[in-house]
Amino acid sequence: MMLKVEKLSKSFGGLLALNQVSFQIEAGETVGLIGPNGSGKSTVFNVVTGFLKPNPGAFIEFEGANITALPPHEISRRGIARTFQLVKPFLHLTALQNIMVGRAYGCHPAKTIAAAEADARAILTSLGLGDKAGVLARDLTVIERKRLELGRALAAKPRLLLLDEFMAGLNPVEVQAMMKLLAEIKATGITLVVVEHIVKAIMGLSDRIIVLSVGQKIAEGPPAAIVAEPEVIAAYLGSDYAQG
Ligand SMILES: Nc1ncnc2c1ncn2[C@@H]1O[C@H](COP(=O)(O)OP(=O)(O)O)[C@@H](O)[C@H]1O
Ligand SMILES: [Mg+2]
Repeated sequence: MMLKVEKLSKSFGGLLALNQVSFQIEAGETVGLIGPNGSGKSTVFNVVTGFLKPNPGAFIEFEGANITALPPHEISRRGIARTFQLVKPFLHLTALQNIMVGRAYGCHPAKTIAAAEADARAILTSLGLGDKAGVLARDLTVIERKRLELGRALAAKPRLLLLDEFMAGLNPVEVQAMMKLLAEIKATGITLVVVEHIVKAIMGLSDRIIVLSVGQKIAEGPPAAIVAEPEVIAAYLGSDYAQG
């Protein structure tokens, strides 16, 4: 078991954004986390990565160690990385420099500037950004910035990568390209948890799906079983999907 989340609740004032959510992720799996807007998906990521503290009673274990409420840099050091829904590269730095910054964090930070640069160039190449190394982040296109954000997360050499609505804002051709890239990342053995609104994309990529609705887990299982669950269709997929 790579990640174990038990009885995760999170209140914001009077709002219970997560209500006793429990799930587990196996090493090597790709798991899709879906649910309507406001169902608590980003909050799960924020708590797991230490950006928010859960309510008392929650328990989060990563690779056998209790990581509940550890600070973000400590969780990153243990091998969990994430992307953010709003991509914010350092706009005045080049693509290469942005990834080099990422190599200063995480599991096995680069020990020298030269090593960080070599690693960063390899990451840019693997993401199809090899020829953009010297381009300022502010001059990159939307999809190039998304690739850069992925590169920043990969630069921390995570074993578990959490992707939050990574394909939002991309056109269908770009979504296809990004899915291919994620399949390649999955093939390297990195465990993925993917929050995505594009149902087709997430169903194709995921071994397993977890469904949240108003802060509670309402279903969990292989994609084919999930899309057939009446409760999931009612809460999330809508009648269009059932007919399609
Ligand atoms: N930092 C925060 N402060 C107050 N309320 C928040 C905060 N983050 C999320 N929420 C609220 O918690 C609920 C779940 O939000 P979120 O996890 O962002 O949902 P999702 O990612 O599934 O769209 C929403 O009602 C949202 O408004
Ligand atoms: Mg969200």
